[in-house]
Amino acid sequence: MSEWLKEHAWKACGGQLLVGSNPTCSAIKRRCESQRRFFMDMTITIRQATPDEVEQLVPLLLQAEHSEGALRWGFANLVDAIYRMDDGTALVGAATMQWRNEACEIMELAIAPERHRQGLGRQFVNWLVDEARRRGKHALLVGTANSSIGNIAFYQKSGLRMDTVRRDYFRYYHEPVYEDGIQIRDMLVFRLTLH
Ligand SMILES: CC(C)(COP(=O)(O)OP(=O)(O)OC[C@H]1O[C@@H](n2cnc3c(N)ncnc32)[C@H](O)[C@@H]1OP(=O)(O)O)[C@@H](O)C(=O)NCCC(=O)NCCS
Repeated sequence: MSEWLKEHAWKACGGQLLVGSNPTCSAIKRRCESQRRFFMDMTITIRQATPDEVEQLVPLLLQAEHSEGALRWGFANLVDAIYRMDDGTALVGAATMQWRNEACEIMELAIAPERHRQGLGRQFVNWLVDEARRRGKHALLVGTANSSIGNIAFYQKSGLRMDTVRRDYFRYYHEPVYEDGIQIRDMLVFRLTLH
């Protein structure tokens, strides 16, 4: 997608936002909105990272797993594939997946802080759900800390439901770590049944 085309798609849509309640204009506005989403989505790509790209993803993934030691231990022992999300040439997200079981699991998922709340996290989850279906998995799981109130909202809004609690999962944090004044202790597991 050329910069020129993107800019002009935006400008065309921006102009239509002035059209008010005229039904014909509203239809044009709706068409422009869907074109805008199309042009935006065109720049987003998600793919498996190559081994030499993994280091580049670590700073992003540390948002999801605060312990670098635990993150790297996970790469070696728990993670089967690492994915990246790019917007054009900018890295905007990363996720790690465990595919080995019938119920596959998102181990970490992170969007660049300056791109939070723009729909990218949900887009990444939807892509991983499609990939899980393609692989014939029965369910997709993801765990988040008892203290991560925002993530608890996010995963439910992404279509998953609370399933189980892994009590004391975070006992490997030697010092107590708090989020919103709540100590990180247990992992809440969310599940999406695929068939
Ligand atoms: C969690 C995370 C991946 C969400 O990504 P995102 O791109 O910001 O989320 P989206 O924009 O796709 O949000 C989808 C929905 O969840 C909601 N949501 C997202 N973050 C939220 C938060 N912190 N609090 C409340 N709702 C939230 C959005 O408002 C949106 O709801 P809507 O459809 O009603 O508007 C992102 O905040 C992140 O990278 N956090 C740091 C790493 C992390 O904690 N990862 C998860 C643990 S593995």
